[in-house]
Amino acid sequence: MSVTDIEGRLASDAGVRAEAARRRTFAVISHPDAGKSTLTEALALHASAINQAGAVHGKAGRRGVTSDWMAMERDRGISITSAALRFEYDGAVLNLLDTPGHADFSEDTYRVLEAVDCAIMLLDSAKGLEPQTLKLFDVCRSRHVPVVTFVNKWDRPGREPLELLDEIEQRIGLRPTPVNWPVGVAGDFRGLIERASGEYTAYTRMPGGAERALEHCFSAADALDREGEAYSVAADELALLDEIGATVDMPSFLAGESSPVLFGAALPNFGVRRLLDAMRSLAPEPAPRLSVDKVARPVDAPFSGLVFKVQANMDPAHRDRVAFVRVCSGRFERGMVLTHAATGRPFATKYAQAMFGQDRETVDVAFPGDVIGLVNATALRPGDTLFADVPVAFPPIPSFAPEHFAVVRCKDAGKFKQFRRGIDQLDTEGVVQVLSSELRGDQAPVLAAVGPLQFDVVLHRLEHEFGARSELDRLDYSLARLTDAGGAAALAGLRGAEVLTRRLDGALLALFADKWRLNAITRDNPSVRLDPLLADAE
Ligand code: G4P
Repeated sequence: MSVTDIEGRLASDAGVRAEAARRRTFAVISHPDAGKSTLTEALALHASAINQAGAVHGKAGRRGVTSDWMAMERDRGISITSAALRFEYDGAVLNLLDTPGHADFSEDTYRVLEAVDCAIMLLDSAKGLEPQTLKLFDVCRSRHVPVVTFVNKWDRPGREPLELLDEIEQRIGLRPTPVNWPVGVAGDFRGLIERASGEYTAYTRMPGGAERALEHCFSAADALDREGEAYSVAADELALLDEIGATVDMPSFLAGESSPVLFGAALPNFGVRRLLDAMRSLAPEPAPRLSVDKVARPVDAPFSGLVFKVQANMDPAHRDRVAFVRVCSGRFERGMVLTHAATGRPFATKYAQAMFGQDRETVDVAFPGDVIGLVNATALRPGDTLFADVPVAFPPIPSFAPEHFAVVRCKDAGKFKQFRRGIDQLDTEGVVQVLSSELRGDQAPVLAAVGPLQFDVVLHRLEHEFGARSELDRLDYSLARLTDAGGAAALAGLRGAEVLTRRLDGALLALFADKWRLNAITRDNPSVRLDPLLADAE
């Protein structure tokens, strides 16, 4: 390498580090109906990425249907696809990775959480922590993803703020540290006090939901004149928070022990700008990622990326298969030839795209924290690593414990080839886990899902994409454990249990009718390996 080459290389490393330092990559986790779609739109609206709220998710009655790509999704009013949005805000580049709202697709959400550096835990002010929020929070904790809390819907009747903080602390052991504090009870919302500066922002409701609410700032003295008793109550509560030391603390936030809390209302877009500021100033920038061998890959190392989602036929106008890749290190340039760590094969990136709802645009360069969509990525599957120059493989993304099982069969014998291709494809994409055994044969594989809606997606796609109308026979199992050949031999022929092979990785899964059956079998066969899978509640 010549001196000029070395100088050029150093300058480009510094460029990558500077670009990475501007990135904030995060997802919103919430229970359905807490307002995730509304908040996503409001964040993008504030960052001026879209001109009119409603262009991202296209909920009924709003403008533009962009990420609802399947008729089935529209019918059911759920969003299965994950769109990745990128927007510039005040010098930062924010990458917001969308997660499916429905609990049945938690495995997809889990994969997305593998690709973010921070999460916003969105709560409905009237409901507080709900089951799906708890489940997803546990995933964040296990992944060491720091969490910022946004208490939404403050414009309508809800619970006391102190009571909500208490619930967060008691139920999930996360120490809440408010960034701002509401004046006026939920339902009679007057505005927010910024704790660090004492500045008060008054809330003025605007008609309709698609415009920014007005935000007027006042000093503490003027705010007291304006809001009277409501302001004094809030000030007293703040004094109490100061006393107990509930202030934002970066080390404990990054360690996943405390959570900065913001209040607001996504629908009238109030408090959303403050949330963007918090993401920019508090959320961590992309950090070196650990490889399978526990070696950290610095952000300025040559390119590496993690495939966290694979999606086929997102849009009938583009019949193709897109792998979403989170850039972990280095500078990505379209046209680069990368190596697929799992196979050692080269992967050309001529068709790299950025996703914006359903609209796509070609992406020419990307940096750590960004998400790129690689088109026609037939060989890639979630958890795969791509790299340039210096090899690396990131740890695989663990699979969730399935709780629903069904045999799937093609209704039309003449379409078996299409059926098999479809099953393979859906398995690789991670839509559902496919299990098989010699006993059951090739014609009737067993599908394993976290939630039954996954089965509906499989049937729909088998019929509409692969032309193979199929039917399901639900199996009477509800629990899976990891076992080995010894376990398979010991469990063979036992009632209420069956051992099947997971096609994708060859793991042996022992299925049980219920936990009583599992307990009885464990008692009778104490030496058999029966390990819980990820996110297994048992
Ligand atoms: P999700 O993606 O988490 O499932 O929630 P979504 O944004 O669809 O919001 C669920 C409902 O809550 C929507 O009402 C939405 O308008 C409402 N909502 C969200 N944020 C706020 C808020 O800050 N204040 C108030 N008052 N409501 C909010 P919907 O009637 O179910 O649907 P839509 O017809 O309004 O879309």
